[in-house]
Amino acid sequence: MSTSLTHLLGTALPIVQAPMAGVQGSALALAVCQAGGLGSLPAAALSPDALRAELTLMAAQSQGRPWNVNFFAHVPPVPDAAREAAWRASLAPCYAEYGIDPASIAAGPGRSPFSDEMADLVEPFRPPVVSFHFGLPSPQLLARVRAWGAKVLSSATTVEEALWLQAQGVDAIIAQGLEAGGHRGFFLTRDLSTQMDTFALLPQIVQAVKLPVIAAGGIVNAPSVAAAFALGAAGAQAGTAYLLCPEATTSPVHRAALQSEAARHTALTTLFTGGAARGIVNRAMHELGALDNQAPAFPLATSAIAPLRAAAERAGRGDFTPLWSGQNASACRAVSAAEVTRSLAKGAPTNTRTTRTTSITAIAQALATAHRTGTAWQPTGGWPELNTADAYAIQAAVAAELGWFPDGPRAWKVGGTEDINAAPLPEVRPSPAASHVTWVLPAGQDEVLIEAELAFRLASAPVAPNATDALACLGTVCVSVELIGTRLANGLSAPANWKLADQGVHAGLLIGEEQPGARFTAFTPADWQAQACHIRVQGADGTVAVHESRGSHPAILAGLHPLGTLPWLARHAEAQAAVQATTQTLAHSGGLNAGDLVTTGAWLVVKVRRGDVVDVGFEGLPDVRLHIA
Ligand SMILES: Cc1cc2nc3c(=O)[nH]c(=O)nc-3n(C[C@H](O)[C@H](O)[C@H](O)COP(=O)(O)O)c2cc1C
Repeated sequence: MSTSLTHLLGTALPIVQAPMAGVQGSALALAVCQAGGLGSLPAAALSPDALRAELTLMAAQSQGRPWNVNFFAHVPPVPDAAREAAWRASLAPCYAEYGIDPASIAAGPGRSPFSDEMADLVEPFRPPVVSFHFGLPSPQLLARVRAWGAKVLSSATTVEEALWLQAQGVDAIIAQGLEAGGHRGFFLTRDLSTQMDTFALLPQIVQAVKLPVIAAGGIVNAPSVAAAFALGAAGAQAGTAYLLCPEATTSPVHRAALQSEAARHTALTTLFTGGAARGIVNRAMHELGALDNQAPAFPLATSAIAPLRAAAERAGRGDFTPLWSGQNASACRAVSAAEVTRSLAKGAPTNTRTTRTTSITAIAQALATAHRTGTAWQPTGGWPELNTADAYAIQAAVAAELGWFPDGPRAWKVGGTEDINAAPLPEVRPSPAASHVTWVLPAGQDEVLIEAELAFRLASAPVAPNATDALACLGTVCVSVELIGTRLANGLSAPANWKLADQGVHAGLLIGEEQPGARFTAFTPADWQAQACHIRVQGADGTVAVHESRGSHPAILAGLHPLGTLPWLARHAEAQAAVQATTQTLAHSGGLNAGDLVTTGAWLVVKVRRGDVVDVGFEGLPDVRLHIA
């Protein structure tokens, strides 16, 4: 069954860049996301700190586009000291050749499976897609991943594995054929005779399951993608095709091998990790036996061969390097990941590629008209599916239509969720004149949501920002009140990205009297936790409601200083500039500059009505009074 993968994943193209541990990081994944495919970050070979750093980049720079983080889900074997010793003994002549003392080699697991600790680390980043190799983690761990709202993918190498994955509730299945580079993802069997080529495996899995099936293995160009679709695939995953991209970290010896005639001869081998994986045949595979060796079980064989690999690579040789590659490296070219993605996508049927240009223009025009006339607008036929890039495009189109931002937006917002991540604010009222403001609601609109937060005026542009630099940029601080049109309130059930587009059209930002920021730069996390905020609403009928909050700022809850979001914003500004250079459609291209106002997310959100007098305040800052008229 061919089910729309783009609909499931939210990507523009049904192309998945295969996660490839050891040869790529976020740069490749982000480039693929940018081009409309699903970029994947392989986590299996990363330390916790490295994984955190890479996830930070993915979350910050994916601009709302879906991305994937990939984990291994193998059951770690019990170490076998006798087998390890016998294996090292068989490697002794090689160690001697390179002057390596075997006693100096630490035994280690090499690759760790997905665990509670990894889930703790990943959870704050809310990856839109999580994929697994070697089956799935425990049902409890899988439930945790699903609770984040992530779509779950996993590889199947047999029909039985596909049915098992379907029974566990995955969202899509990657049919990994025998041509594939890297590790066989098999997990119900270790019998290599069960393993099939992609075009034998794919149609059988498609027939057996009700889920979208992604073909993987030997898919390198548009014709092979077209062939996979002809056999029922809903999408295609390619690994080898990306290995020579400048965004990949493929080593020089690996690149050289891929570009040589040697790449025509690959084989499965257990030499490098203990698990069967496909790579270009090299000296180690010739001399030690690719499969007929006594390497310890996956992934324990990783440590014994590692020093040989390092020593040989220092001498410019790939003799002991796992030169992972699929059987078809012929189309592997040193071109950008965007180019590879686009050329693969040409093989996909056009109805699987999402073209949103027309609907974006139509929505932008409808919103601009609604704004001019003060009328509410609801899309006919339900809320459209948009991604964050679409939302920005709509905001930019509406802003252009209404003549906003002749010099580009000068205020930034980071919302409390990953989806509503940053939006230009259309109406920024200059301080300090706004400490007492009458907000006239358009006719027919009797209530409005207000959102109170702290706003920071930058004294200087953040350069190479980190949390300390960000603090150094702080000029002044004030109370900011954002007024959000009722159409946003009506649209609370709409997709978050749609809200972002709507918010850009209907929000207004009022800011109170600015105070020197020095007091706040001295704040400790505990001070931020204790900081109090209130919204006091006096109704026209004499009722008084007081809403209070303390330290509930999303940045603080996420363990950040509220200004800790500045580095995030600066990276976002940089990425947006790059996007705008190519598309000319998105906002946020002017970077973060001295004088910009940065708000960092909702502290308190309250609905107020026509006739209300509203006082909004933060401890230590003067209240802002609003008359809702
Ligand atoms: C260098 C390399 C590393 C790989 N590492 C991973 C990995 O970390 N996780 C994973 O799920 N699959 C990994 N794979 C397998 C891919 O997901 C995919 O099955 C394969 O690349 C598809 O075949 P192709 O290389 O012919 O395109 C790797 C493949 C290669 C070539």
